[in-house]
Amino acid sequence: MKKPYYISTPIYYPSDNLHIGHSYCSVAADTIARFKRMQGYDVYFLTGTDEHGQKIERKAKEAGKTPQEYVDHIVAGVKKLWELMDVQYDGFIRTTDDYHVEAVQKIFKKLYDQGDIYKSEYEGWYCTPCESFFTETQLKDGKCPDCGREVEKTREESYFFKLSKYQDRLIEYIESHPDFIQPPSRAKEMINNFLKPGLEDLCVSRTSIKWGIPVTFDEKHVVYVWIDALSNYITKLGYTTDNHELMDKYWPCDVHLVGKEIIRFHTIIWPAMLMALDLPLPKQVFGHGWLVFGGEKMSKSRGNVVDPVILCDKYGVDSIRYFLMREMPFGSDGNFTNEALFGRINSDLANDLGNLVSRTCAMIEKYFGGVLPEAKINEDPDNELIALAENTYNEFSKKMDELQLSGALVEIWKLVSRCNKYIDETMPWALAKDESKKERLGTVMYNLAECVRIISVLIAPVMTKSPAKIQKALGVDESLTTFDSVQKFGQIKAGSKITKPEVLFPRIDIEAEFKAQEEEKKAKEEAEKIKKEQEEQAKKEEGLITIDQFASVKLVCATVLTAKKLENSDKLLVMTLFDGKKERTVVSGIAKYYSPEEMVGKTVTLVANLKPAKLRGVMSEGMILCAENEKGELALVKPEKEFNAGCEIR
Ligand code: MSP
Repeated sequence: MKKPYYISTPIYYPSDNLHIGHSYCSVAADTIARFKRMQGYDVYFLTGTDEHGQKIERKAKEAGKTPQEYVDHIVAGVKKLWELMDVQYDGFIRTTDDYHVEAVQKIFKKLYDQGDIYKSEYEGWYCTPCESFFTETQLKDGKCPDCGREVEKTREESYFFKLSKYQDRLIEYIESHPDFIQPPSRAKEMINNFLKPGLEDLCVSRTSIKWGIPVTFDEKHVVYVWIDALSNYITKLGYTTDNHELMDKYWPCDVHLVGKEIIRFHTIIWPAMLMALDLPLPKQVFGHGWLVFGGEKMSKSRGNVVDPVILCDKYGVDSIRYFLMREMPFGSDGNFTNEALFGRINSDLANDLGNLVSRTCAMIEKYFGGVLPEAKINEDPDNELIALAENTYNEFSKKMDELQLSGALVEIWKLVSRCNKYIDETMPWALAKDESKKERLGTVMYNLAECVRIISVLIAPVMTKSPAKIQKALGVDESLTTFDSVQKFGQIKAGSKITKPEVLFPRIDIEAEFKAQEEEKKAKEEAEKIKKEQEEQAKKEEGLITIDQFASVKLVCATVLTAKKLENSDKLLVMTLFDGKKERTVVSGIAKYYSPEEMVGKTVTLVANLKPAKLRGVMSEGMILCAENEKGELALVKPEKEFNAGCEIR
């Protein structure tokens, strides 16, 4: 039976702006999961989304959606991103999933019933406009960290988890399990900075938030952050349900892969919760560093996010996955720069690996008509190359097991470099000129093809597209794509049909690329500027009309020939006007201010091109203009001198 292996990423806050830093964690977990699958483990790789809380509630409101509609839309985008990046998870948990909600409620109740959760009061700072609570440390210069406005000290009834009760057991556990927190420097940090100074009990419910999991026995409370989010690692496995096959098989987890800022939650709060639930602790929590951009963590508010979709579209998924895994040293931060990315693509991928594959296949095509020759005469430096090729899996897998992903790639690239050096040393082009060296040339080609095969198998956990392309070019079948097949040299069969593969990693013309990026940036800035100007202009012009619009209203002087009150109306007068050309009937609401007698003979301002409309059964062909004061009284608008009917008013 296959051995189980359980790995998880944190559950992500739903965001339509997941950046390349977020992808680091998922790609790393995926790489480890693929590696373990290839080693023959029965792998369960869990990821998902952390969907409750005030922020989501607010963002949904801003977007005019319900929180559920809002998260549904975003989560679809998150899944699409993982698909694009070939992150092949086995389980995806959403904290809004029914089974999770029910399980969290049961966990909360169990902890309450056994006395690990109790009711008390939480003191914090409240921002009324944002409807948000903050702790003292979350405030920014004593003000709301979100909107910068004044906050008030408030008390809120809350449930608390007895975290302090587990302090000594946690210290004891961490000290006696050196592998539990990795890298080890993080374990020291947890003990010295958090555990030894003493733990405070933890607020685990809120009454001021609505978008959360209700506490079943006290419905005005919702479960706040910790118990909801952290439990995901077991609720997805069926914990608290009758369907706990996965829980039995995979718990305890082999590794929780998390960013360094959430190590504390995973190595103090989560283990304490598990102790309270009487469950075994995860075998390891691995805290990786951040991918930084210009020295700062990527974040939307800092405006330094790099979009993984654009990167993958431009440079290919394999290049981006390779870059992420190679550039981030074990447990520390890695820097994202275009220079670093282009450097890796051009040197490690295009020059070293890409060239090795294409040169090897091209030479076999050229010298042996694409049929892989036998290795007959192994001499120096063949043995050194073969020994390295056979040992690369060991070195690589040792590093992978330590989660030193960058180091593991370095081990593969030692073989890539050795192969390129081997080509320089053996000079196949010179051997090809001498018919008597044909067998030696065949041996060199065989050794190179076998090394390329081994490399293609070893890179498969990191790169998801290139291995198959290389293996197709080498004409190898599936049995030669396993880890078993790379530990003994000489597995590729002489006689295999070799073809030149498509270009695996196109070289980037760095100068042109930077120029294009610069132009793109300029065009984007220009477009944004224009958009902003247009918006400002539109704002200024709100409610204004153009001269043409005004000119389309035809105003003329008209003389009132007859006037009478409309029957059953104390407001309306029906008048016959002469507009200079013809007579017309106009109904007007001036009866309260002008008698019919007063009106006859007056010159008035007529809107002459108004569409006729029926008013109380009478067809009115235009309207006359009046001024209206604040009391609602009307006064006729008329030329200051007596002008003839038909004179235009402009
Ligand atoms: N929802 C919480 C985790 C709860 S787990 C029970 C959370 N979500 S998050 O979306 O903010 O972050 C998810 C993961 O992405 C974290 O591990 C975080 O460290 C990682 N990263 C976010 N930005 C990152 C970089 N710039 N670089 C590397 N990883 C980063 O935290």
